[in-house]
Amino acid sequence: MIEDQTTRTSPRSAGEDGAGEGGGGGQEYALLLAPSANRVYADQAPRLAQAELTAFGDRVLHAGLRDVAEVRLGGLPYVGFRTARPLDHDDVAYVSHVSSAYALFAREGALLRPVTLTPPARYDDDLITIPKYAGKTNEQFTRLLLNLTVLASRRAAEMRQRQLVVLDPLCGRGTTCNQALMYGYDAIGIEADGGHVEAYATFLRTWLRRKRLKHTVEVTPVRRERKRVARKLTATMAPSRDAHRAGDTQQVTVFHADTTRARELLKAGCCDVIVTDAPYGVVHGSRTTEWAGPSRNPRALLAGALDGWVELLRRGGALGLSFNSHVTPRTEIVTLLERAGLSVVSGPGYDGLSHRVDQGITRDVVVARKPT
Ligand SMILES: C[S@@+](CC[C@H](N)C(=O)[O-])C[C@H]1O[C@@H](n2cnc3c(N)ncnc32)[C@H](O)[C@@H]1O
Repeated sequence: MIEDQTTRTSPRSAGEDGAGEGGGGGQEYALLLAPSANRVYADQAPRLAQAELTAFGDRVLHAGLRDVAEVRLGGLPYVGFRTARPLDHDDVAYVSHVSSAYALFAREGALLRPVTLTPPARYDDDLITIPKYAGKTNEQFTRLLLNLTVLASRRAAEMRQRQLVVLDPLCGRGTTCNQALMYGYDAIGIEADGGHVEAYATFLRTWLRRKRLKHTVEVTPVRRERKRVARKLTATMAPSRDAHRAGDTQQVTVFHADTTRARELLKAGCCDVIVTDAPYGVVHGSRTTEWAGPSRNPRALLAGALDGWVELLRRGGALGLSFNSHVTPRTEIVTLLERAGLSVVSGPGYDGLSHRVDQGITRDVVVARKPT
């Protein structure tokens, strides 16, 4: 960690979006991290944000990113970084995607000059923050996982323009789906616990009504050969009347079903990325329940589900999976993913993402790509 480095040479200010421009063309920045309600996660956020920013730097930033490191300024944790050129408008938009980004500053000697962030927010952020329940995946972490997965896919350079399709095949009450909506994407979920699907449908209905957004939310049976094989929640929405009128709508589809049967519900190649937080295989310490799905054993669940999931992924798509490494070691997850035909992504941004959640849970992340 670098402590209060405020004595570097001051670059002259200029540049788009208020980004300062150094005489040698370089610029130093400091990214202030959002305070997190979760103390344990907040303590690890600077390290995770460094990895995430590095992945953005490697895959989409134009400005040439280097020297990413934790810096403390005025007692607060920032992620400091240098760029070969000042961040341009697109670069600032990408940095704004970083899951814990709160405010960005160009460093000018001892001073910090604000650079306005432009976070992807197609809807009010209470779409993400209102739902609270035992077993919810941390929303900042969910965004990190979505970012790293999209960045690993062949859609990385289009992540801000294209209406991608995100599948969470273990979607709980929709944290990933809601994050996908914020990005302007479509979302598909599969969840075995009917209570979660019900609660998600109720939340979406109430939230969309309260925001006075034009929408439809319906729950219908899915039948195959006259037998009911699942229930399906379908929601369509747009962030404004004009968007709705113009057909600029988004869809969320959630199946109440066993994810090992995903191929019976969905067409091959239906999604660009799969982003999911696997069951941790333990009962949460302070909270009372782990979810009651057909499979509580994450290893058996993944072994039974992965082949189907991979078929649902488009070529060049990526899968981002988080899991409890106390229960399923990373090496086993890597073997399962490779056996299913995926290539695990490694290198800056994708290694060292393991972090503590609570006494029984150390959450790790593996991202893997389907060949093009
Ligand atoms: C770690 S939780 C995901 C929580 C979710 N990200 C959220 O924030 O609400 C894992 C989810 O997998 C579900 N699950 C477990 N086995 C399943 C199966 N065989 N098919 C579908 N869902 C399953 C559980 O019910 C649980 O909701």
